[in-house]
Amino acid sequence: MEVPNPGSVREKGQVSGMQPCAFRPLLLSPHPMLRAPPSLLLSRSDTNRTEGMSVLGALPFMKPLHHVRSPVPQGRRHTLPASEFRSLSPEDAISVFEIEREAFISVSGECPLHLDEVRHFLTLCPELSLGWFEGGRLVAFIIGSLWDQERLTMDALTLHKPHGATVHIHVLAVHRTFRQQGKGSILMWRYLQYLRCLPYVRRAVLMCEDFLVPFYQKSGFKALGPAEITVGPLNFIEMFYPVRGHAFMRRNSGC
Ligand SMILES: CC(C)(COP(=O)(O)OP(=O)(O)OC[C@H]1O[C@@H](n2cnc3c(N)ncnc32)[C@H](O)[C@@H]1OP(=O)(O)O)[C@@H](O)C(=O)NCCC(=O)NCCS
Repeated sequence: MEVPNPGSVREKGQVSGMQPCAFRPLLLSPHPMLRAPPSLLLSRSDTNRTEGMSVLGALPFMKPLHHVRSPVPQGRRHTLPASEFRSLSPEDAISVFEIEREAFISVSGECPLHLDEVRHFLTLCPELSLGWFEGGRLVAFIIGSLWDQERLTMDALTLHKPHGATVHIHVLAVHRTFRQQGKGSILMWRYLQYLRCLPYVRRAVLMCEDFLVPFYQKSGFKALGPAEITVGPLNFIEMFYPVRGHAFMRRNSGC
């Protein structure tokens, strides 16, 4: 019996240009990227959502066959988990971009990542993304990639540096109808907890406009000063979070 795929919202999205951003239990493989913490585990229903996902995304959730195709007398399972956190895959790109479109493009005509860039990063480094799903629908997300310099430059907007020790958080966005409910803060908190479990990550950085500095400060980020990157008339503050400065928490985080 096939179990239905929760799927993600699929709508048509249009892409244009590249605009800069403003703004997993322990596996057999020794690769650090595979060491996802329990907080990122998929729920049972997600065992079906591996089609098109990276191996990184799918492996932690492989279960004996009888778990996936359990005999359910009354037929297909129609319920989706109320709330779940998981890494995103390229298949989630359109859902991501729909949130971005409302959050950024409708406001300023710009957005941190266009659809092709979302797909780019979700293909190259899905393990540095985190999505929050309610009833199978994406309601908030973070997309990151690795960077290898002290400060962000224009290149950081489009490149993933696999040997870098800095996670560049390109975008955090919450769906319009779920804002001001603590979701942005909670998602960032979970993401930073997760980063502490990745041995190659030393710090996280992001850029934001002035008015969001207090929001990120509440999550533990510190301002580094004006960012080198500007987008049209927009200027940004670069902020960082010392992932490696939390040895005690890391020791006690179950990583
Ligand atoms: C910014 C954003 C991620 C915050 O997520 P959220 O779930 O709404 O935020 P939370 O409920 O966790 O926290 C609320 C706090 O965020 C801050 N905040 C949120 N939006 C803000 C805004 N537009 N201006 C100033 N502060 C803001 C406030 O400090 C607020 O605290 P308060 O309730 O005491 O006023 C969300 O509003 C969003 O997606 N905005 C559009 C996209 C965006 O700007 N992303 C960030 C740049 S990459």
